[in-house]
Amino acid sequence: MTGARQELLARWRAEESEQPEGWDFSALDGRMWADPPPWDLDAIWGEALGAAQHVLDMGTGGGEHLLRFRALLPADVVATEGWPPNVPVARKALEPHGIQVTDFGAPDHDPDSAPMPFPEGRFDLVLNRHEAYSPREVARVLAPGGVLLTQQVGSGELPELHALLGAEPEEPTVTYDGFVADAKAAGLRVVDGEEFTGAYRFVDVAALVAYLQRVPWQAPEDFSVDGYADALLELHERSAGGEIALTQRRFWLRARRPA
Ligand SMILES: C[S@@+](CC[C@H](N)C(=O)[O-])C[C@H]1O[C@@H](n2cnc3c(N)ncnc32)[C@H](O)[C@@H]1O
Repeated sequence: MTGARQELLARWRAEESEQPEGWDFSALDGRMWADPPPWDLDAIWGEALGAAQHVLDMGTGGGEHLLRFRALLPADVVATEGWPPNVPVARKALEPHGIQVTDFGAPDHDPDSAPMPFPEGRFDLVLNRHEAYSPREVARVLAPGGVLLTQQVGSGELPELHALLGAEPEEPTVTYDGFVADAKAAGLRVVDGEEFTGAYRFVDVAALVAYLQRVPWQAPEDFSVDGYADALLELHERSAGGEIALTQRRFWLRARRPA
């Protein structure tokens, strides 16, 4: 292998690191961009919080997103976090604000298999940004008239990335139509929502590798720089060492438990 290739691989290996704690993409500032979706999630979240008294934030990460709304939070807010390294991070961030963190996460591939540790009708607002959930369980823990707000990363964006890396593409399971149908089947009324296709842009292969360290579930299961060296070098050559654009998919929906 040439010296130039060895150098590239060494640079990409340097991007392989432990995932940072919490939910923090700041190391990618100026190296990666995602087109903003056309809806204003902050406004949607904020308006719902202004009308809610008993709130659950599912998969809070390190609580970063929830705390952006701290001025709007009612007295009764609970969060779940199921990724073990982030449970203490979320507790440290949220407990000083009176927000209890429950160690719970629904398994991505079978969210219905894990009952949520809350009684029926406990919340009037369930917030869920980019976290797996069971619509049936969410419907159960919502009070009559209560609302689920979720934004999801559509897994329709994955086949392109996996094909670029020479990995077997998976069938997309996180889709707007599927989530709407599942919410309805769980007895929720879907009252609003939208899907969006945009782009991610990475300044180079190193930025893509750094991104995949932060969202390892998006990468092929066995992804590593050395294991995927040929595909990464080919991607580097095809992009002339410069920008890589990939498809981004997002959707959001608002669903209500009938009163
Ligand atoms: C995509 S994050 C979103 C966090 C938060 N809701 C937000 O919007 O900022 C969803 C969940 O994935 C968890 N997570 C992070 N890294 C993970 C990993 N390697 N495996 C499984 N879950 C992980 C986070 O802790 C969080 O609970």
